[in-house]
Amino acid sequence: MAGKAQAAKAATGDTPIGPTGRPYHGFPTPPKLDGHGPARIISLCNQKGGVGKTTTTINLAASLAEYGRRVLAVDFDPQGALSAGLGIQTHEIPTIYDLLLDSKRDPHEVIVRTAVENLDILPANIDLSAAEVHLVNEVARETILARVLRKVAGEYDVILVDCQPSLGLLTVNALTASHGVLIPLECEFFALRGVALLIETIDKVRDRLNPTITLDGVLATMYDPRTLHSREVLERVVDAFGDDVLETVIGRTVKFPDASVSGVPITEFAPEHPAAQAYLRLARELVARGAVA
Ligand SMILES: Nc1ncnc2c1ncn2[C@@H]1O[C@H](COP(=O)(O)OP(=O)(O)OP(=O)(O)O)[C@@H](O)[C@H]1O
Ligand SMILES: [Mg+2]
Repeated sequence: MAGKAQAAKAATGDTPIGPTGRPYHGFPTPPKLDGHGPARIISLCNQKGGVGKTTTTINLAASLAEYGRRVLAVDFDPQGALSAGLGIQTHEIPTIYDLLLDSKRDPHEVIVRTAVENLDILPANIDLSAAEVHLVNEVARETILARVLRKVAGEYDVILVDCQPSLGLLTVNALTASHGVLIPLECEFFALRGVALLIETIDKVRDRLNPTITLDGVLATMYDPRTLHSREVLERVVDAFGDDVLETVIGRTVKFPDASVSGVPITEFAPEHPAAQAYLRLARELVARGAVA
């Protein structure tokens, strides 16, 4: 990752200092699990578009799967970018939308295996854009996704929900279903704009719907250590969130657009690439923090 050079430069004692200004740990390879489930459910959330939610869902999911975790990725965006990024054609197949609309429907009929071992997906397509309108008059409309995921949580170690860039009913459903939330922030101007509203939404969900939801971490993405503003933004993010900022920082690289087009995670497309290594490290950090089994 791009931060490595900087980390090495700032080396003090045994542990170098990473891009977030804290010691830069390698994090150990997660121990093998004896059995699987119940899953910890994590939403990737930021109402700002294009900050790396889907890219992180794909590559974190693939990294955790590589460490032997059983992973379910949930596409919760009508754009279907997560499904496409994992090589799933969503035309005329059952999707998460069908599960939201019909509580009797078995999620197993909708879950698709991906080309990555240990990684399954609940796909979405444009149908999902009608969900907010359909669900708005439902009883307990905020807990519909939670009820769907409850049926399969026992079979997975982690469920990652890729949210759409909005704070509407779908995102509230994702937060209500989740144990934790991960906030990707692009290291760009205005990264922090709107984050207060996101935190407020999480607080409201905690107050009213899901008392135990925790902030699992803030992930800096598209970091470019060569630009002053990227470094300044990261500094401001650390000022705002302190230790909630994950040590792992995802560098900016053109490999991601390439990997999305090919429909496979970067960890498969270019496993030695620093960005693939960064996502594997993120997976290890989340296990070390106890956010994932
Ligand atoms: N670290 C990175 N370096 C360079 N480009 C990246 C990086 N991460 C993601 N991208 C690219 O940035 C664009 C937006 O990323 P992504 O789709 O993951 O964001 P998102 O938050 O899911 O967007 P949306 O809000 O539209 O769902 C994509 O084209 C993706 O390939
Ligand atoms: Mg997305």
